[in-house]
Order: sequence, then C-alpha cells, then structure tokens
Amino acid sequence: LKDVGVMNEPILSYRKNSEERKALQQALKSTAAKCEEVPIVIGGKEYKTDKVMHQVMPHNHAHKLAQFYYADKKLLEKAIKTAVETQTKWDRVPLEDRLQIWERAADLMAGKYRQELNAATMLGQAKTAIQAEIDSSAELIDFIRIHAYFLKECVKYEPISENIKVTKNSMRYRGIDGFIAAVSPFNFTAIGGNLAYTPALMGNAVLWKPSDTALLSNWRIFNIMREAGVPDGVVNFVPADGPVFGDTITASPHLAGINFTGSVPTFNRLWKQVGNNLDTYVNFPRLIGECGGKNFHFVHASADVESVVTSTIRSAFEYSGQKCSACSRMYVPESLWPQIKAGLLSEVGKLKIDDVQDMSTFTSAVIDDKAFKRITSYIEHAKKSPNLEILAGGTYSDSKGYFINPTIVQSKDPKDRIMTEEIFGPVVTIYVYKDSDLQETMKLVHTSTPFALTGAVFGQDEDFIRCALEEFKIAAGNFYINDKCTGSVVGQQPFGGGRKSGTNDKAGGPHYILRWSSPQSIKETF
Ligand code: ALA
Repeated sequence: LKDVGVMNEPILSYRKNSEERKALQQALKSTAAKCEEVPIVIGGKEYKTDKVMHQVMPHNHAHKLAQFYYADKKLLEKAIKTAVETQTKWDRVPLEDRLQIWERAADLMAGKYRQELNAATMLGQAKTAIQAEIDSSAELIDFIRIHAYFLKECVKYEPISENIKVTKNSMRYRGIDGFIAAVSPFNFTAIGGNLAYTPALMGNAVLWKPSDTALLSNWRIFNIMREAGVPDGVVNFVPADGPVFGDTITASPHLAGINFTGSVPTFNRLWKQVGNNLDTYVNFPRLIGECGGKNFHFVHASADVESVVTSTIRSAFEYSGQKCSACSRMYVPESLWPQIKAGLLSEVGKLKIDDVQDMSTFTSAVIDDKAFKRITSYIEHAKKSPNLEILAGGTYSDSKGYFINPTIVQSKDPKDRIMTEEIFGPVVTIYVYKDSDLQETMKLVHTSTPFALTGAVFGQDEDFIRCALEEFKIAAGNFYINDKCTGSVVGQQPFGGGRKSGTNDKAGGPHYILRWSSPQSIKETF
C-alpha cells in the first residue's frame, strides 16, 4: 500500500513516561469520572425515551460508564424517513467533498481524539491499552482511510469507448436509494465505524444500531464524524432492542441493505425476515454479514515449537478470546505434544488478568454476564466430561468483574462440542493426533464445524504446506502459514469468512466499498 500513497496507521507503543501513555491516563481518568449521557440522534436532533439503559465497565460492573436510551418503533420509523430523505441529497455531494470529510475524520481519530477513543474502548469493552490501540485507533483509522483510497481507485475505471468521436461510455458509482441498517458488535470499535461509515462514504444513508456494550466508543466515533463534516441524517445513531430494530427495518420497503456483524441466529433471523418481505422492497436489499467462527491452529511435526506456543497464547487469550478471529481449537501431533504442552503451561502461568488500567495486564474481564455464563458453561462441561481434561485455568469469578482465567483443555474426542461450537472466550481446546493420522485429522478441521473464518498452520515441511493449502481452501476466509490466526490488517489481509462465518465480503479489501454502490453505466452519443 505504501507504493500507492496510503499507509496503515502506525501503532503507538505506550512505553513508560511516553507522551501517549500520559495522554491515555488522562483520558481514562476523565472517562471513568462520569456516567456519560448518550442520546439517540436522528437527523441531527437528539431524543431520549423511557427505556433507559446503562453501559458498565466489564472489569468492575458496579461502575456505570454511560447512560443511553433505546429507540422505540416510532423513533426508528422516523429515522428511516429521515435517512431516505437525506440519501438523495447526500448522494449528490461530489465525491471529492465526501473524501475530504473522511480524510478529516481519520486525522481527528489519529490525533485530537485518539486517546478518548482508546479510553472508551478500554473501559467500556475491557481492552488493554495495546488492544484498544490496534482497534479503536489503528484499525478504525485504516478502515476510514483505506476504503476511501479503494473508492478513489475504483472510480478511475473507464469502460471501453470504441470511437470516442461518436460515443463515450462512462460509469458513475451511486449509493442505493433507501437506507442501510448497520448492526455492529462489541468486540471491535473499528468494526462499528466501518459498518456504519463505509456505506455512507459511497453515498448511502444509514441507521446505526451500536452494540449496548460498545456504546461509548461508538458514540465517540459518531461525534468525530459529525465534527469532520458528515451532514445530519446521513448516519443516524439509534441504539435499540435487537428484535424491535430487526422487525422495524425489515418491514420498511426502503431497506436497501444490512451491514451486520454478530451471531448466526440473528443474521438468519434478519435474512428470513427480508425473504418474507421481499415483494415489498424498492431494491433487493444487500445482505452482508460476518457471523462467527471456530478458528484453528493446525500443527505439523515439522513446526517450530516456540512459534506455535507464542502464537497460540496470543491468539487464544489476547482480549480474552473475544476477537472474531481468535484461536479456539488446536490440532497437535503426538511427537511435538510434550514440548508444546510444557511451553503453553509455562506461558499461560505468566499472564496477568486484571484491571485494564494497569499497563502490565495481559487481558481483563469478558464483556458481560451473558458471555460469562456461556463461556463458563463450556468450562463446567469440560470438568464433567471423561473425554476432556482441563490443563490450565478453569477458574472464574464475577463478583467484581466478569473474570475468567485463560483455560486450556485437552480433548480425546475431536468432535466434542467444545471443539466444534463457538465459545467466544478464553478457552482453547487441543486434540493430540497420531503423526500417522495426519491426513484424516486435516479433514476433520473443515468437516467438524460449520464455520470457516480464520485458521493457521504451522510447519516447515513444504509438502505439508502445499497439502494444507489444498485441504484448507474451504476451511478459512483468512488463512495464515506460520503465524497466529488473529491480527489481520486493513488493506493487507482483507477480512471475512465463508460458510456459516458470513458472506465473506472482505472488510478492508478493494471490493467491499463496491457492495454499497448501485453503479450507473452511461452511454453518451455525439
Ligand atoms: N482484525 C481482527 C483480527 O484479525 C478482526 O484479529
């Protein structure tokens, strides 16, 4: 990307006594000092309802960080009307002007508001400083800048005009008349920004339903985009109850698309509702979803043990295994197991699980009570099952925050539900295979789960790598050779998976922005 005039945002290191650390600590202090009021915003006007909600700190759930309100059906319908009216005007704003707003926004995120965004992500979503930095700073800024770059590139395309003296052919990239519903998750602040603002850049108008547990960081993005110059009504900030939101948007004939990251059941529900109402829509709604994973590390006997251990600890336990890409299952050959087991147990014992404001914390609490109950139910299953043995962790407490210690499980059964279902927490399960069973075990990777988001293989043997590239072609949308399965970078490893992991439209890739356009071909005859 460097050669073509756009770069990924450099990541700050937050070393002791550094300016960025001081600024972050100041931002953490002021963010924690109050419970911020967050209104619903439709067409620039602020609303409150009697459905009052709170965002708390996951590592200290008695501490309220923000108070917000659920938009009811009437307000959502108002937001739809506002978005539909705004869209036609917004789509006429010259592309150059829209791109300038996005450039300003990226600069504000990279400078003036960087630490406020990081502080909201840390305290609200339980990320450490470095995890917040790679999310609400680097990845968010990259989504804003690099999708703008891809848009500039794609509009350069000129259709063939055989005889320019007689006819000129051209294309223009319009938004889609109607509105886009952006439904975003808690685990990446950057994904919220991308789901709402990439369609908007293309000339669409959006209803943004942020996650209740990422409310404050998402609200900060909304305000930065307003300050950068996004006009009122282009993006409407509408926290809402999930089913009420889903029912209302899918009932509108003006629904032009859904940009979704969340669970398979929710995406299925929305898709079915769209199907039921299909005859009523002005456009065929675009449905883009990223839905889940059961991401794997597959180790070959020729692998470098140290790299396997470090990569697995990071991929399974950074941000408590709550990245969509996190490693959740692992396949290890018998010949390497003693060394890998010793390495994992030694490293996991060194991890500090604590308050995010302590700069030596490796990871903190999981996001909320619902996640805590789901994840610990898998730990309890591991305690009871004769096929499963907990090698490390397995302990938890929700008395102050939703803390679960990084847990390593060994399974004798590669099809046990702990190895096939999405857990979305700090639990990794390992199946040790006989070296002679390599081929059968590789097949298991994509036959035992419905997901195909991320995966990594570790090995120095070239035949194995060639074979893995074939066997795992359908097993992951993001595939890594000798590196962990987390940490995709916008523009470098466009992100998304197939099968039940989603529609694989590759956020951070060159084609994503085009999914939000309804282009017009023009033939002009002289
Ligand atoms: N960019 C995030 C990762 O790959 C989703 O971990």
